[in-house]
Amino acid sequence: MKIQQNISLKPYNTFGLDVKASYFVEVSSVKELVAILQNPDYKDLSRLFLGGGSNILLTKDYEGIVIKINLEGINIIQEDLKSLVLKVGAGVSWHSFVLYTIANNWAGIENMSLIPGTVGAAPMQNIGAYGVEIKDVFHSLEALNLSTFEIETFDLAACKFGYRESVFKHEKKGQYVILSVSFTLQKEPTFKTAYGDIQRTLAEMGVTELSIKAISDAVIHIRKSKLPDPAEIGNSGSFFKNPEISVSQYLALKERFDTIPSYPINETTVKVPAGWLIEQAGWKGFRDGNIGVHARQALVLVNYGGGNGNEIKNLAYKVQASVKEKFGIELSPEVNFI
Ligand code: EPU
Repeated sequence: MKIQQNISLKPYNTFGLDVKASYFVEVSSVKELVAILQNPDYKDLSRLFLGGGSNILLTKDYEGIVIKINLEGINIIQEDLKSLVLKVGAGVSWHSFVLYTIANNWAGIENMSLIPGTVGAAPMQNIGAYGVEIKDVFHSLEALNLSTFEIETFDLAACKFGYRESVFKHEKKGQYVILSVSFTLQKEPTFKTAYGDIQRTLAEMGVTELSIKAISDAVIHIRKSKLPDPAEIGNSGSFFKNPEISVSQYLALKERFDTIPSYPINETTVKVPAGWLIEQAGWKGFRDGNIGVHARQALVLVNYGGGNGNEIKNLAYKVQASVKEKFGIELSPEVNFI
């Protein structure tokens, strides 16, 4: 375990922001993690735990220790004729895990193909795509309590998952590090193709017989067509959450903007796509120097290279203000500002 000083975090965040960390270390076991947390030289520093760095906006140098969680491993911990439970190390890349399940014909997470980031970061914000969220396949997780250094198990209820939300972003914020996540997957798939462009894409791809591989391929195709690859253009996926508004506010907006899309949540609430609001406010494809709003998905802010976190933060504020002015809707970021 090598502790580095004053190193650039550029390779460790998908926005590609070039800020420095006072200290940086990668841990490959719980033992190493605990050792660094208890080390007298580092234990009082502020800490930032990193997975794939795909949901953070680094606005300044980090005065503390950045700990990258590289815990590996995928193991079957329960199995019967119909389903199995897989325990996966927090440091496993999410998409490589998805591909592994597809190669084994275990169903449940194929709709969440190609989401950047690691398995350990996934429950933090209950990642989701194309009609499926982590919470739909979640079994439990193990997390290190940062006060007691005990490993605790969280079941589904304890995680309090909501739309891009969990207990780890609220009452338990900063108190735990996720070590592993267990998922229940099915041997007999139930295909979920109702969402968005999946059916159309499957047809375009000439798929006549559905399979989890075909769904994964379709999702990968859609994502690649809309979302910039962080290896080419810095970004962190959706920058904002899709706002939930009251049905009455929605109906009033519909009078003025008759094409406004919506997804019903319950009898009183609807979700509206932030990407649509941002596009209507005129931001899609906007570029200012090295940063901008992606031309194919207005919900994605981008760093073309050389941009800094404050520029992106200021752009986000401007986008928020203009959406608020035009629609009276407050956008909240999905990305964590550091
Ligand atoms: N739209 C526009 N203009 C845009 C972008 C979108 O009008 O520039 C409209 C689309 O036409 C469509 C609607 O908005 O009617 C929804 O767009 P899309 O299907 O692209 O999905 P999204 O709601 O923008 C969410 C997730 C994504 C996830 C997709 C697919 C959030 C914040 N984002 O995006 O998740 O991949 O659905 O399920 O919920 C992420 O969280 O980082 C992420 C990429």
